[in-house]
Amino acid sequence: MNIEESLNEAVIKAEEVVKNIDTIAALNQEKANFLGKKGIIAEVMKNMKDLSIEERKQIGMMSNTAKVKIEEIFTNKAKEIEEAIINKKLQNESIDVTLPSFKRNVGSIHPLMKTIEDLENLYIGLGYNVAEGPEVETDEYCFEKLNLPKGHPARDMQDTFYIDVENLLRSQTSPVQVRTMLKENGKPIKIICPGKVYRRDADDATHSHQFMQCEGLVLGSDITLGDLKGALLEMAKMMFGEEQKIRLRPSFFPFTEPSVEVDVSCFKCGGKGCPMCKNSGWIEVLGAGMVNNNVLRMCGYNPDEIQGYAFGIGVERITMLKYHIDDIRNFYTSDIRFLRQFKEVK
Ligand code: PHE
Repeated sequence: MNIEESLNEAVIKAEEVVKNIDTIAALNQEKANFLGKKGIIAEVMKNMKDLSIEERKQIGMMSNTAKVKIEEIFTNKAKEIEEAIINKKLQNESIDVTLPSFKRNVGSIHPLMKTIEDLENLYIGLGYNVAEGPEVETDEYCFEKLNLPKGHPARDMQDTFYIDVENLLRSQTSPVQVRTMLKENGKPIKIICPGKVYRRDADDATHSHQFMQCEGLVLGSDITLGDLKGALLEMAKMMFGEEQKIRLRPSFFPFTEPSVEVDVSCFKCGGKGCPMCKNSGWIEVLGAGMVNNNVLRMCGYNPDEIQGYAFGIGVERITMLKYHIDDIRNFYTSDIRFLRQFKEVK
């Protein structure tokens, strides 16, 4: 085979070879086999040494033409491979604009948080501040400074989860009142303290080992039970409607004296009597009273100069009454069907 034939053959071979290649890496490797230092063309050209100058010129031109052709074959193939890669990508990433879009699920406010927000708005409007405190409390702040010394029988109702002898999960938000009194050190106070509390209760439709309270504390030079009644009547109206009435009944709490249980008129029957209010026309919603002198003294206040009231609203209780929820566990089991119902609640 002469040189010219060999060159032509190399071009044909290059055309053949690239047909089966589908990656750029393999293509480059194969290209070197043709056009590299030790490639087919270089080998063919080795035989030039025996030729005359005239022939060399001719063969030189032929080899250049062959090189250009082979170069072109590889360049074209490279383009083809790149195009195929892009097409495949386009195909894989294509978007069907006729598909329905994904709907973003927007959550809704939890009914307990809604009640807390409502209470905060109401009481902030009446000049109260919102105070917070830790859920892990000391026995001293949760009980002793609230006139519940160790061994006091009223502690039974507030048995809770103990971290150790002195530290516990607070059974009421009243320790926030203690903390505020100790901080304010004799100065007037007007706060509400919403938050989670815990008790060693077996969970059922009306009991939960974790629940929420929103307590209030107002101390000043001439605060009376009448002021307390006004503050609670506003709450009852806000929660249950303008026509609401409230009634105070004598009760007992170690931290207040006198103590009262507060009822709202039954919003289902309007006070006539129905199963909801057990035919009494009234529904009990919270405990309250005038802060016990012992508590005032233990927290740095002089009862002869300053006194006031405290109340403790059960957040679950009033939320259940307002929205006719019949099981407290609904608040804590995160059932989306339950929670979704509060989307429209304003
Ligand atoms: N902390 C009391 C309870 O959990 C409620 C309460 C607060 C009663 C303030 C009176 C005054 O039972």
